[in-house]
Amino acid sequence: MAGASTAQAHRLARYRTEFPIFERQIYLNSCSLGALSKRSRAKVVELLDVWESRGAAAWYDVWWQALADLRGGYAGVIGAHPAEIALHASVSTATAVLASALDYTDRPKVVTTSLDFPTVVYQWLAKRPLGVDVEIVESRDGISVAPEALARAIDDRTALVATSHVFFTSGAIQDIQAVAAAAHQKGALCLIDAYQSAGQVPIDVHASGVDFLTAGGLKWLLGGTGIVFLYVRNGLVKELKPSVTGWFAHGRQFAFESRSIEWQEDARRFEQGTPALAAVYAQLGGLELINEIGIPAIRSTVSELTEDLISRARSAGLKPKVADDASQRSAIVMIPAANPAQEVRRLAEAGIVADARPDHVRLSPFFYNLFEDNGAAIEVLAS
Ligand SMILES: Cc1ncc(COP(=O)(O)O)c(C=O)c1O
Repeated sequence: MAGASTAQAHRLARYRTEFPIFERQIYLNSCSLGALSKRSRAKVVELLDVWESRGAAAWYDVWWQALADLRGGYAGVIGAHPAEIALHASVSTATAVLASALDYTDRPKVVTTSLDFPTVVYQWLAKRPLGVDVEIVESRDGISVAPEALARAIDDRTALVATSHVFFTSGAIQDIQAVAAAAHQKGALCLIDAYQSAGQVPIDVHASGVDFLTAGGLKWLLGGTGIVFLYVRNGLVKELKPSVTGWFAHGRQFAFESRSIEWQEDARRFEQGTPALAAVYAQLGGLELINEIGIPAIRSTVSELTEDLISRARSAGLKPKVADDASQRSAIVMIPAANPAQEVRRLAEAGIVADARPDHVRLSPFFYNLFEDNGAAIEVLAS
């Protein structure tokens, strides 16, 4: 099968010209940073023009509206309501605010896994001196975590299960509906880190029943650095009061009332301070493209590209570390390598952008890649 699709361009190939990096390089590192699109560049220039011509006067109409548009845009990506979305600068700040809102008195335990991104785990490891008990469920194969092992770790002392939708370590997709059900069965809540899935894998937060979910622009939503969101299930918003906060969380923000906090009625109560507008605008440009194409269409094309890459790697004898079941694979393909940094340098010399992780080269095709890109990368790695 490897190479069978080479001659045939996939149906989203026409979007490649939106991404100027391909004029010079083959970009296969979207799971670190999505490529810059012409749309994001144009949106950032639009912001700079308004900043230059109107200064702070633009806050009250144009920029305030841009923040609302972005909350609405993020909500659309995951099937949420805009009132369930808080904007943040990073997953670290979003989860820090969430961690500050939970009550650990009767439920001091937080369950997470050995494959989750460290910054999420750190929020609760840092609370160990305050009595928070973190249980890290080990993966047996370094690819995914057995659902029974996760369920076994959740008990009636558990406040939260915090884990990923797509594991950054392997690209394996975790069943978030099953995670939510296992948490709820024991009266716990669940947080999903969807940074490696939102934009490449469809998400329906209401159907899956998750309580909190975080993701952002950096990777598959094509928004660049410094802009993420936290989804908080509507029924939970008013129950929670963060102790890490800021003036955007105040319901009468422009009353500048310093003596008491009246919380926002919606998920903005989980926000902190003034967002970075350049990041907001870059993300609005990226979302325009994602919405135009649609995440189901992206998923279908990216699955074809991923399977093509895996099959080419296997034919070259490279043994990629991916989930056994193709339906649980996403566009992160880990190729074992004795000296990953050196392999990434060799790829760079051939004009291919990839990344190194411990013992692996990491390749991550997106809808703007072609089957030929996979072929070029595997040819270098196999030589
Ligand atoms: C799964 C996952 N979560 C979180 C992050 C990053 O978190 P932060 O926004 O705090 O840098 C990454 C990668 O950058 C990631 O892959």
